[in-house]
Amino acid sequence: MLPSAALFGMLALVAAAEAATPSPATCSARGVKKLKANIKNVVILVMENRSLDNLLGGQTTKGIENPINNGPYCQPLNLTDPSQGTVCSSASDFDSVLNDPDHAVYGNNIEFYGDFTPDNQAIANGSLVPTMKGFVHEQLRLYSSKVNKTDLAKQVLNYYTEEQVPVLTSLVKNFVTFNHWHSDVPGPTNPNRAALTSGTSHGHGTNNATFNNHGMPQRSLFQQLSELGRSWINYVDPKGGTGPDAGFYNWTYTNGKTSQIVPLANFFTDAAAGKLAELSYLNPSCCGVGTNSMHPSGLISDGQILIKSVYDALRGSPQWNNTLFILTFDETGGFADHVPPPLAPRPDDLTFTAKTPDGDSYTLPFDRLGGRIPTLLVSPWVGKAKVEQKYPNAAGATVSYSATSILKTLGELWDFAPFNPRIEAAPSFAHLIRSTIRTDVPANLPAPVAFKKGRALEGRIAGNLEAI
Ligand SMILES: *[C@@H]1O[C@H](CO)[C@@H](O)[C@H](O)[C@H]1NC(C)=O
Ligand SMILES: *[C@@H]1O[C@H](CO)[C@@H](O)[C@H](O)[C@H]1NC(C)=O
Ligand SMILES: *[C@@H]1O[C@H](CO)[C@@H](O)[C@H](O)[C@H]1NC(C)=O
Ligand SMILES: *[C@@H]1O[C@H](CO)[C@@H](O)[C@H](O)[C@H]1NC(C)=O
Ligand SMILES: *[C@@H]1O[C@H](CO)[C@@H](O)[C@H](O)[C@H]1NC(C)=O
Ligand SMILES: *[C@@H]1O[C@H](CO)[C@@H](O)[C@H](O)[C@H]1NC(C)=O
Repeated sequence: MLPSAALFGMLALVAAAEAATPSPATCSARGVKKLKANIKNVVILVMENRSLDNLLGGQTTKGIENPINNGPYCQPLNLTDPSQGTVCSSASDFDSVLNDPDHAVYGNNIEFYGDFTPDNQAIANGSLVPTMKGFVHEQLRLYSSKVNKTDLAKQVLNYYTEEQVPVLTSLVKNFVTFNHWHSDVPGPTNPNRAALTSGTSHGHGTNNATFNNHGMPQRSLFQQLSELGRSWINYVDPKGGTGPDAGFYNWTYTNGKTSQIVPLANFFTDAAAGKLAELSYLNPSCCGVGTNSMHPSGLISDGQILIKSVYDALRGSPQWNNTLFILTFDETGGFADHVPPPLAPRPDDLTFTAKTPDGDSYTLPFDRLGGRIPTLLVSPWVGKAKVEQKYPNAAGATVSYSATSILKTLGELWDFAPFNPRIEAAPSFAHLIRSTIRTDVPANLPAPVAFKKGRALEGRIAGNLEAI
């Protein structure tokens, strides 16, 4: 029999252990305090069209589920004819690909479910789960009449090694990488950019003219910050091709806020002068050679030049000590990823209907997320080489992150309520902010490397790198 003093000792130990691991809700509440105390300016850079297994597929840091740590992942060349064989992901990708993978809503459907028109009811009740096996099939359907099948399969399945993407590798090894961060809409860029800045694509499943005509009626992050008297600037690469995301919204135009949409060059002078707004939102250029968003056929190495220049400018800025830099992507761009996208609450009651290549009609109810995308938190207030998994949301359900996690967390930082149920249910990442400032972060990121001959697009990489 244990003496009672020893028993009390054990109970005390158990209690101490419990106190040492606070609940997620406690961590979140403490995180919000640290966020408010330490972060005064947030910088968001939204790159284009890359999945996690593609761009971070070769990162060896533990906790990232990807082909080098857990793969390779294999897919049939043809979903309905197994005799055509299988291909598997392998290391070393192209600096860019010429054959842009399908990332329309129906394209995502066949890539995830093997079907242009999956049964929405079966998806919603959990009986139909994505297999993530249709990426190669769809790339071959689009291009195999003209392009070598082996090369097409490599374009969507292969991944970048740590050596090929040194800028990203350095960020992963020094800051926080999300292992379960999905795009909000299983579709193309503007619906996802709208979801990131307002929590919904407002029923849009394509990049149609409404975005550039400033036709989006819903409340945006930009409107919310202005109404709270907080400052924001939307910096835009003058080569164009994405956004300006603040320009999607009617509110921005009817309230004379277009003067807050300025050229990207101003970001670098503002950072150097310590004059960054509370929110800096950066639109890269898209989508051909010479653009810097990483969208095909823009080069991966050109995208890294942009990321490095943003990091280096922030690190050298008088504002670095209070900066949180969120590096994310709009969507997967049709590049393979093996993690099935989860269900998520509908932001509103809108749907999107489109014709598939088979002539059928498919209606997306916006009740599920898109593929997994790279997202990193960069700040002197976050952990080194930390990989974040799923996290409990406000209702206590452990869920994957998505673009709306940004709106959820910024709402905690700047005191505004979620605009809709999708944002409400997104997990906050406030708990990732720490109480001590780090001084061991790199002063500069490494320079991007030239891709080996044959893995660059048309040998143009050398010329682009000379322009750093
Ligand atoms: C889920 O929905 C599908 C399609 O409507 C139906 O066939 C299936 O029986 C449902 N399963 C459950 C568990 O409700
Ligand atoms: C897959 O194989 C079937 C049977 O050979 C063929 O009819 C179909 O066109 C193929 N699909 C694609 C996308 O190549
Ligand atoms: C396709 O390209 C691969 C190299 O990537 C080569 O080995 C193969 O012979 C090519 N196939 C055809 C049909 O040209
Ligand atoms: C854009 O798409 C939305 C949703 O499908 C539709 O309501 C709207 O009319 C479209 N706008 C244009 C200009 O085509
Ligand atoms: C608001 O959106 C509509 C399209 O829905 C567009 O015609 C109008 O020009 C926009 N207003 C402004 C001020 O941009
Ligand atoms: C930033 O914080 C570090 C560490 O506390 C400190 O040494 C440095 O002086 C601070 N820089 C500025 C510009 O306040």
